[in-house]
Amino acid sequence: MEYTTLNNGIQMPKLGLGVFRVTDLAEAEEAVYQAIQLGYRLIDTAAAYGNEQAVGRAIKRSGVDRADLFITSKLWLTENSYEGAQVGLQRSLDHLGLDYLDLYLIHQPVSDYYGAWRYLSEAYRQGKIRAIGVDNFTQQKLVDLINFTDVRPAVNMIEANVFNQREADRQAMVDYDVQMEAWSPFSAGSDNVFELPVLKQIAAAHEKSTAQIILRWLMQRDIVAIPKTVHVDRLRENLAIFDFTLSDAEMQQISALNTGNGFNLPEDAQGFQAMLDMSKQFSVD
Ligand SMILES: NC(=O)c1ccc[n+]([C@@H]2O[C@H](COP(=O)([O-])OP(=O)(O)OC[C@H]3O[C@@H](n4cnc5c(N)ncnc54)[C@H](OP(=O)(O)O)[C@@H]3O)[C@@H](O)[C@H]2O)c1
Repeated sequence: MEYTTLNNGIQMPKLGLGVFRVTDLAEAEEAVYQAIQLGYRLIDTAAAYGNEQAVGRAIKRSGVDRADLFITSKLWLTENSYEGAQVGLQRSLDHLGLDYLDLYLIHQPVSDYYGAWRYLSEAYRQGKIRAIGVDNFTQQKLVDLINFTDVRPAVNMIEANVFNQREADRQAMVDYDVQMEAWSPFSAGSDNVFELPVLKQIAAAHEKSTAQIILRWLMQRDIVAIPKTVHVDRLRENLAIFDFTLSDAEMQQISALNTGNGFNLPEDAQGFQAMLDMSKQFSVD
């Protein structure tokens, strides 16, 4: 496993397992347990995923020293306030059965996320969270938060994959010393991503799979990635990306796949309203 050093000096694994949409709790527990046995140390869950308790059971069952794991969860938008963050963080800790988190993110940049950030900054100073960060923050929102608060986000998690590469966002995060973390690194399997001829050609040259090429390309851009799978063979495959290097020409061939299209938050009022209406229905209890 390779690690990156966050802006507060702590080490974060560059590759982890994400468990969004793993709603079968037995399946979530088993995937996390198997991942940890295979050598994964970073697990990415969220209050809104409804599987923090299953993740917590897998962590306990794994027998791996807590200090060697890097556990991330996220505050849901219905709790974006000072008081809400207090409740949300404690609930996530209770669900996971942990007394601290390695990384806790504000899941969406809506409502009173400044109030939430104030509480999370206190919890960070008290040692309840080793690093705090944000999620789905645009460059403007990230720079705004950095300028008007006194704890700089350690991480900003945004969608990044071969279709929606986010190079300008990545560069802005480098400039502001914020680690970029990619969600949906495989674009959730959409648009036949694993069958793209360019990726297949590069994969054949390295005797690797197209999934491994995508993850390696993210690693070489210094982006942390948390691919989701519930299959042991794919967990193993997604981890085996630290024994080869893509050439500059191959990196550029993959860059050419960018369309900028992804699961971006709707910018128009109606679309944004629909997203909020749907999001507010998630239960985090
Ligand atoms: N913060 C946010 O707003 C946000 C939003 C979305 C996601 N996320 C995080 O990012 C994580 C990953 O994103 P995602 O779950 O949307 O999707 P993803 O990781 O881009 O893709 C997952 C899909 O790829 C398949 N897959 C995984 N490894 C494979 C392999 N080696 N070969 C072929 N297929 C493979 C999986 O199928 P199987 O499971 O059947 O193997 C699944 O269908 C989430 O779990 C979550 O932790 C965060």
